[in-house]
Amino acid sequence: MARKHILHMLTPLRQMSPFDVNMALDAGFDAVVPYVDVKLAEVTGLVQDAIFSRPPDAGIDTGIFIAGKDVSLSLDMFDAAKKAMVPPFQISVFADPAGSFTTAAAMVAKVEKALQKKFERGLEGTRIAIFGATGVVGFCTAVIAAKEGAKVTIVGHDGTERVNKVAAEIKKRFGTTVNPVDGSSTAKRKKIVAASEVILAAAKAGVQVISKVELAGADALLIAADVNAVPPAGIEGLTVHANAEPLETTKAVGIGPLAIGNVKYKTEFGLFKKMIESEKTVTFDFQDAFSLAREIAK
Ligand SMILES: NC(=O)c1ccc[n+]([C@@H]2O[C@H](COP(=O)([O-])OP(=O)(O)OC[C@H]3O[C@@H](n4cnc5c(N)ncnc54)[C@H](OP(=O)(O)O)[C@@H]3O)[C@@H](O)[C@H]2O)c1
Repeated sequence: MARKHILHMLTPLRQMSPFDVNMALDAGFDAVVPYVDVKLAEVTGLVQDAIFSRPPDAGIDTGIFIAGKDVSLSLDMFDAAKKAMVPPFQISVFADPAGSFTTAAAMVAKVEKALQKKFERGLEGTRIAIFGATGVVGFCTAVIAAKEGAKVTIVGHDGTERVNKVAAEIKKRFGTTVNPVDGSSTAKRKKIVAASEVILAAAKAGVQVISKVELAGADALLIAADVNAVPPAGIEGLTVHANAEPLETTKAVGIGPLAIGNVKYKTEFGLFKKMIESEKTVTFDFQDAFSLAREIAK
């Protein structure tokens, strides 16, 4: 009898995301088991409980998924899970807190593709401003773009105090530099947009962060992308299906949440499938998500 594919899904939150549960089962896991309210210190024990219950060659059929809503905590849990392995007892691990790794990967991959196709250039040196950077998707987007050599500005909707902390955390953890700025007024946001070649909206669902007034006069702007699919659009005038099409009232092209969501979906689904099908145990974080999203994005 074929061995069952089992996924243990760990979250520090009170609930596991139904989105991730559905996706893991649809990708082919036979059983997914949520563990909620998991503390960082409990990860080692849970992983070791899972690895020793099956023979070493069943490691490839057993996986750990790390969820949550905090990039740093999820990466700490991811590292703890990897360190808990006792070779030859090893299992696969995939982290994607609040879908942020795969969503950020999809957004940056779509932007990169549009830069290449429409403007014959890449991310390196491109001036990118990220709105919603205190959120988990915005944080991860900033890290991926900065690691690719973009000049990243992270915008605080309530001043600089919290984006300063985000920038310090990114520097400490990843060694990359992002520039925190105050985007708490229309005049400030207009100035940020005017200084950018790419703007990325990663703000809360149903919140407009950039208006047409703020887009006016953005002569250097090449691309505006948004991951919020709940009306109103995060960037005024950007339609949900826009796929590097002209953004009204600007000279830029827009990439909407469903064009990004399509790549996000395929990336998360694809990583779950790789966990199931791989002949060796695997570990996937946002860098693996970005590598796969780059292959998928058109
Ligand atoms: N298209 C896709 O495939 C996909 C997949 C996953 C997620 N998403 C979307 O990605 C977005 C970000 O997700 P998330 O989990 O990071 O969201 P989140 O935690 O709810 O919020 C993200 C950011 O929005 C900011 N924000 C809240 N209210 C605001 C306001 N009135 N003005 C400006 N900014 C405001 C938050 O600031 P505070 O820190 O002050 O709260 C935070 O920086 C959401 O729209 C979500 O629906 C899309």
